[in-house]
Amino acid sequence: MASEQENWARFREVIEDAGDGLILFGTGAGISKASGIPTFRGDEDALWEINPQILGTYAYFEETPKGHWEWFLMRLRAYYNCQPNPAHYAMAALESWQRKRGGKMGVITQNVDLLHDRAGTRELIHIHGDMGHVRCSRYGCKLGAPYGKIPYEDVDFSAFEKEPSDDNVPRCPSCGSLLRIHALLFDEYYSSHVDYRMQDALNWIREAKVMIFVGTSFSVGITSSMVEGALKNKIPIFSLNPANEEDALFEAGWTNLSVKAEEALPRLCEELGIEIPSVASAL
Ligand code: APR
Repeated sequence: MASEQENWARFREVIEDAGDGLILFGTGAGISKASGIPTFRGDEDALWEINPQILGTYAYFEETPKGHWEWFLMRLRAYYNCQPNPAHYAMAALESWQRKRGGKMGVITQNVDLLHDRAGTRELIHIHGDMGHVRCSRYGCKLGAPYGKIPYEDVDFSAFEKEPSDDNVPRCPSCGSLLRIHALLFDEYYSSHVDYRMQDALNWIREAKVMIFVGTSFSVGITSSMVEGALKNKIPIFSLNPANEEDALFEAGWTNLSVKAEEALPRLCEELGIEIPSVASAL
């Protein structure tokens, strides 16, 4: 087994050598932890350790729209008060560097917090949707799946917040059905909304020259698809996560780095001579 220094050196070298190829990142909740957003699994204060997974289903929304919105409004408010951290900014700087040398970098994020956007990442797929929008719960409505959505800020939640009840859940301005979050729920498919851009993600997975996972527990479908693609194409795989232990797939080109995203990614930039402009853009 290689030492931590050797693994790090290999990581840096692979990024340097990616040249004009596609560097593909897959990010998860761990990258936003330093921004104050709790993860879902693996940490002491992880959300799904406290709240049963059932809260994140469409079945739960149908059973209690009030419960759905109480839970997600609480999360959404928390997101809006958070700022990108050094890991988000480092990734945006890395993308500019990669583009300048004629290459490409893509980020498939499982996070709905929009912190990559606010830090300046451009080639970004919100594979689980985003918290900047809500949508009509009626499939086929022009403001619902598979194409529609409404900016979150255009929706008046004041009656619901004053008195949370099923009757006070905001309704679609087009058809009057209940509104729901614009995010993939556990009992839904990636194909259910065009914004999840599953086909674009699959194209990136096919094209990638290196795949880097940051802050994910590999618990859902997209990370399985990414890993499967990387192993099939025999490209190097890196996982940055302080909880990482062994390299079960080391022989297959998988390198685990036991590091925090907010330290490791700025360090990578520093070692590659990439400057990180940390100008927060307004959401
Ligand atoms: N840097 C990097 N990784 C970290 C850090 C950090 N500072 N702190 C914690 N982590 C790691 C944890 O060890 C954990 O393995 O981040 C990982 C977060 O895992 P999850 O909470 O399961 O997040 P994620 O993989 O994004 O979850 C996938 O599951 O619940 C659904 O839709 C939700 O998008 C989410 C999906």
